[in-house]
Amino acid sequence: VTVIMDGNGRWAKLRGQERLYGHKEGVESVRACTEFAVEKGIKYLSVFAFSEENWNRPEDEVTTLMGLMVKAMADEMDSLDRNGVRFVVLGNRSRLAPELNETIDACMARTEANDTLTLIIFLSYSGKWDILQAARTMALELLDNPEKRADVEGMSVADFDKYLITAGFPDPDLIVRTSGEHRLSNYLLWQGAYSEFYFTETLWPDFRKEEFRKALESFAKRDRRYGKVK
Ligand code: IPE
Ligand code: IPE
Ligand code: MG
Repeated sequence: VTVIMDGNGRWAKLRGQERLYGHKEGVESVRACTEFAVEKGIKYLSVFAFSEENWNRPEDEVTTLMGLMVKAMADEMDSLDRNGVRFVVLGNRSRLAPELNETIDACMARTEANDTLTLIIFLSYSGKWDILQAARTMALELLDNPEKRADVEGMSVADFDKYLITAGFPDPDLIVRTSGEHRLSNYLLWQGAYSEFYFTETLWPDFRKEEFRKALESFAKRDRRYGKVK
């Protein structure tokens, strides 16, 4: 299951507060959903925390969000580790501050062997960036090793998957988006090819276990045909 966590700013505004207040409360929703995923035996939960486009927000919001990430990782790591959660960050990490990257490396190394739930945070991620970096890596490999030409000519979708930042992780069965927006905002463009969608008006800071349960219930009723006739 993956979630496009949206609506933190509006949630705060409704309460006459700064946007940061909504982001902070959003961290609590990540905790609740992670707990719920462990309870339900979900093996992979991922969340879209910050897009490549989000770098274009006002500098103080970006700085605040990045600070919040460092704090949330530091605060949550003991509990995640205790509950067998493997913590992974995927995205364009070259754009992240050294302090954040160090925290991420430490959290990933510490929880590497856990296998109850894999929690993936997409940070400085966008779908087009992902496909581009995959194509770039592949092109450069070929330039360095022209004998790989036959491999490229015969390349399959599964072969290309290995170049994406999500290599080794399953494609999402379900993409949830909160806050009433009905768009992908450049998320998992390749990996979401056959995902089911669940949209809710609920703002992310209000999306807790009960909301997650409703999303799963809706998913359970879907008829997935993958282009075939049933
Ligand atoms: C989601 O909430 C968090 C991020 C995208 C970082 P928003 O910050 O987008 O909140 P709204 O959509 O402005 O309400
Ligand atoms: C999408 O939310 C990105 C994340 C949830 C991280 P945005 O709030 O940035 O998306 P738009 O701008 O409304 O499409
Ligand atoms: Mg938004």
